[in-house]
Amino acid sequence: MRLSRYFLPTLKENPAEAQIVSHRLMLRAGLVRQTAAGIYAWLPLGLAVLRNIEKIVREEQARAGAIELLMPTIQSADLWRQSGRFDAYGPEMLRIVDRHERDMLYGPTNEEMITEIFKGAVKSYRDLPRNLFHIQWKFRDEIRPRFGVMRGREFLMKDGYSFDLDVESARRAYRKMFVSYLRTFDRLGLRAIPMAADTGPIGGDMSHEFIILAETGESAVFCHRDLVDMPVPGDDIDYDGDLEPVIRARTELYAATDEKHDPAAFEAVPEDKRLSARGIEVGHIFFFGTKYSAAMGCVVSGPDGRDTPLQMGSYGIGVARLVGGIIEASHDDAGIIWPDAVAPFKVGLVNLKSGDAETDAACATLYDKLQAAGVTVLYDDTDERAGAKFSTMDLIGLPWQLVVGPRGLKSGVVELKRRATGEKEELSPEAALAKISGN
Ligand SMILES: Nc1ncnc2c1ncn2[C@@H]1O[C@H](COP(=O)(O)OP(=O)(O)O)[C@@H](O)[C@H]1O
Ligand SMILES: [Mg+2]
Repeated sequence: MRLSRYFLPTLKENPAEAQIVSHRLMLRAGLVRQTAAGIYAWLPLGLAVLRNIEKIVREEQARAGAIELLMPTIQSADLWRQSGRFDAYGPEMLRIVDRHERDMLYGPTNEEMITEIFKGAVKSYRDLPRNLFHIQWKFRDEIRPRFGVMRGREFLMKDGYSFDLDVESARRAYRKMFVSYLRTFDRLGLRAIPMAADTGPIGGDMSHEFIILAETGESAVFCHRDLVDMPVPGDDIDYDGDLEPVIRARTELYAATDEKHDPAAFEAVPEDKRLSARGIEVGHIFFFGTKYSAAMGCVVSGPDGRDTPLQMGSYGIGVARLVGGIIEASHDDAGIIWPDAVAPFKVGLVNLKSGDAETDAACATLYDKLQAAGVTVLYDDTDERAGAKFSTMDLIGLPWQLVVGPRGLKSGVVELKRRATGEKEELSPEAALAKISGN
């Protein structure tokens, strides 16, 4: 993409409304624009990041055996009356009346809808287990939307739902998602810690929030330090094998958000291992048994021929929130530092003297070669000053900056900068290409 033809409305000044660094940088780097309180338009650069996150989420869901579908954003109130939540949900739910005076709503979540779909389609235990997910916009009329996409009113979420015949099998479904979440956040360049969360009326130990540590996080969290760097299972993980050890290694160490915090248990952690910090909830997995299946008649005939309400769980990932979360975890004074896996472009190609025939030609060749090698590249071919170009590149945080100017070209070199470390080297264009492609 040539910057001269792109849509990248960056801001020089810090926007006054942004209180935390990720919100500030998302506005400044032209990733999003607010269109109403807590509602954001995703501009091209932000959308590219969102799509990269979605792709990783999808791949790891598929690896764990979950199947994608897509449910609508607008739902009928009748479904929610069946579960009793139409009245119970509260003012976070955006209620809508259509022209026929029918009550509708903009979905804050999809338990009811998926239960209805599943119940109409699956009659036998032989069709179990299943885990269905979608990546769809949600609306929650948060009383205090803030911190940009971190706590928005309209936001993109991956929400998945598992259906099993019995609790033991539902536990297996839960463990698969637990492991899948560890892998997903790891691939996004984040260190997410599963923490015991409130299970509501069901009780038990099957609710975890996945938290990334950040000073600006909304939750106070307490955990054993060893959880922070605990290695994550590789892509050869066998989801049909025994996942219990992976989960035990984490759940046997103390980790809780303030809601579930048990100061006495935390005191039992050796003092040098006690970490009390702030965190951002990027995912939440939850087992809720037959709450919806019993209320809505989602039953199958079991091996004994009797109708059995299904055991269900739900599994959420805050896809939009993750964009902010990743920036909170990875930035410096100059701007964003995208982890390679989610960067909107891998390389920023900087032409130091647009209009100079030799420099333009060298850039054009590099641009073509990068694209031919399948490397995404944003080519700054504008006639801005060099200093402004460097600031923009640092601000938008692409992993590599490839800088081409007349002086270097005279001695046959270009400059390659790694955004994360600031490390710069001068090398031949071919060597620079090889280095970028090989990384
Ligand atoms: N208002 C919001 N803005 C952005 N992301 C959100 C918002 N609310 C929830 N999320 C994301 O969706 C995930 C699943 O939501 P859920 O656990 O149902 O919400 P909550 O924790 O607010 O009850 C959360 O872990 C979080 O990452
Ligand atoms: Mg939650």
